[in-house]
Amino acid sequence: MSTTFQLDTSTSRANPTPKPRKRLTVPKIRDHKKDGQTKEPLVMLTAYTARQAQLLDAHCDILLVGDSLGQVIYGLDSTLPVTLDMMIAHGAAVVRGSYHSVVVVDLPFGAYEGSKEQAFETASRVMAETGCAAVKLEGGQAMAETIDFLTNRGIPVMGHVGLTPQAVNVLGGYAARGRSQQEHDKIIADGEAVQNAGAFSVVAEGVIEPIAISLTKSLEIPVIGIGASAQCDGQVLVTEDMLGMFERVPRFVKKYEDIAGIIEKTVAQYAEEVRARTFPTEDQTYQPKA
Ligand code: KIV
Repeated sequence: MSTTFQLDTSTSRANPTPKPRKRLTVPKIRDHKKDGQTKEPLVMLTAYTARQAQLLDAHCDILLVGDSLGQVIYGLDSTLPVTLDMMIAHGAAVVRGSYHSVVVVDLPFGAYEGSKEQAFETASRVMAETGCAAVKLEGGQAMAETIDFLTNRGIPVMGHVGLTPQAVNVLGGYAARGRSQQEHDKIIADGEAVQNAGAFSVVAEGVIEPIAISLTKSLEIPVIGIGASAQCDGQVLVTEDMLGMFERVPRFVKKYEDIAGIIEKTVAQYAEEVRARTFPTEDQTYQPKA
C-alpha cells in the first residue's frame, strides 16, 4: 500500500498514512549483522529532498544524503565543489521528509580531512543543523584516527572504502578498484581500519566482487555495496540512477524505470495543450461564486 501525506499547517509537517514504523537507530543498523551474518540485506538509497524522502522512507532502512547531489541536483562534474551548506540544507530536508529510515549525511570534500578537530566541527554542525543520525566520510586507514575521535564524541560514522569519488584526482577516474594485489590489500586494510576505529557500517564502492565478499565475510559491521556484490550486507544506489533520470547508466546500476522518458512525454503534452489553449479547462479555472 502506498503512503499518502496530509500537511499539518501548524507544524508544517506532512503526516503520513498509514502510520510509519518507528525510526530505526544506528545501533539497530549495526546489530542487523549478527555473528558476521546478515539474514536480510539492508536497503539504502540516496535522497536529497523532503518529497523524495517521503516516497522512499517506508521502503528503506537508511537514506543517504550523498554528496553525489553535486552531480545529480547541481549539475557539477564531480563531488569536489559540494559545500557544507548544501549538505546541511538537503540533510535537513530529508530528515523532515522521513520517519522510519536512519538518515546519514555525507561530509563534503575539504570539510573534514584537515584534522580530527575540523572533522568534529563539521560533523557536529551537520548533526545539530539537520537532525540526522550519522555522518559518512570517505577513506580508510588515513581516516581511522578521525573516525575514532568522532565516535568517541557522540557522532556515529559510516565509512566509505574502495572507489572514493572525492579522491578522483588521486585515483585517476571512477574505474572499479582492487584489480592489483596492492589495491586489494589496501581496500581490505581500509575496511578493517574503519571498523576498528568504531564505524557502525561501511560502504564498499566500485570494488571487484572477491574483495566485496572478503570484506563482508571478515568485518563484523555491515558492508553496504554499490558496484560490489550481491553478497554484501546491504545495497545502495543513487535513486535517480535506478529510476532512469539520466541517459548514462553505469554498469553497476539497474535501471528500474524510465522516469526521464515519463517526464519528457508529460511535459511535451503540457506544452502542446498550453499552445493549443486546451489547458487550462473549466475544471482548472476559478469563477465568481454564484
Ligand atoms: O554520494 C553518494 O551518493 C554516495 C553513494 C554512491 C554511496 O556516497
